[in-house]
Amino acid sequence: MPLEPRLQVLRGDITTLAIDAIVNAANESLLGGGGVDGAIHRAAGPELLDYCRTLDGCKPGEAKLSPGFNLPARWIIHTVGPIWRGSQYNESMTLANCYLASLTIAKAMQFEDIAFPAISTGVYGYPLNQATMIAVETCATFIEDSPFPARIHFVCFTPDAEAAYHIAVGSHGPRK
Ligand code: APR
Repeated sequence: MPLEPRLQVLRGDITTLAIDAIVNAANESLLGGGGVDGAIHRAAGPELLDYCRTLDGCKPGEAKLSPGFNLPARWIIHTVGPIWRGSQYNESMTLANCYLASLTIAKAMQFEDIAFPAISTGVYGYPLNQATMIAVETCATFIEDSPFPARIHFVCFTPDAEAAYHIAVGSHGPRK
């Protein structure tokens, strides 16, 4: 089954990508943390934290935009994923909303290329296979009706994430 060319899977460090926007898996304070959030703040430099202080936080499932500062990426879309608590707290809806809110910003800004980490699958404990299926389904549906973003890159920091995304993208394939 040919893959959807607008959905790309790549292995690597999202902070190295020189594209329109990378998505940060942040926490509600938007004041930095560990994981990809920590990596992005370290690479973007202290101006990012100063800027984020003006954003007044972010609710789970929502997204906010900041410049990329010292990153090679021009912009950062900060989103807050759900903390996995066993699926009884609408985590799947919140996770889908993270992708939707980020894509809505990318469309409004007419970004060509954006990159997502595997939101919530680290510290927040979301099961990887379920999270990647939600990511791919939400993104594939969104781009059916929108020319922007032109391309979505799922950036995998681990081999497990890469395998999970290839399964999710492979099983989706281009819509008829
Ligand atoms: N590039 C790409 N992906 C990365 C990078 C990186 N440099 N560093 C980590 N990741 C991956 C992890 O391997 C995981 O697959 O990002 C995914 C999300 O993991 P976390 O960064 O732990 O994010 P999340 O699970 O959403 O938890 C968010 O962690 O860092 C704190 O402040 C953050 O409180 C928030 C929580």
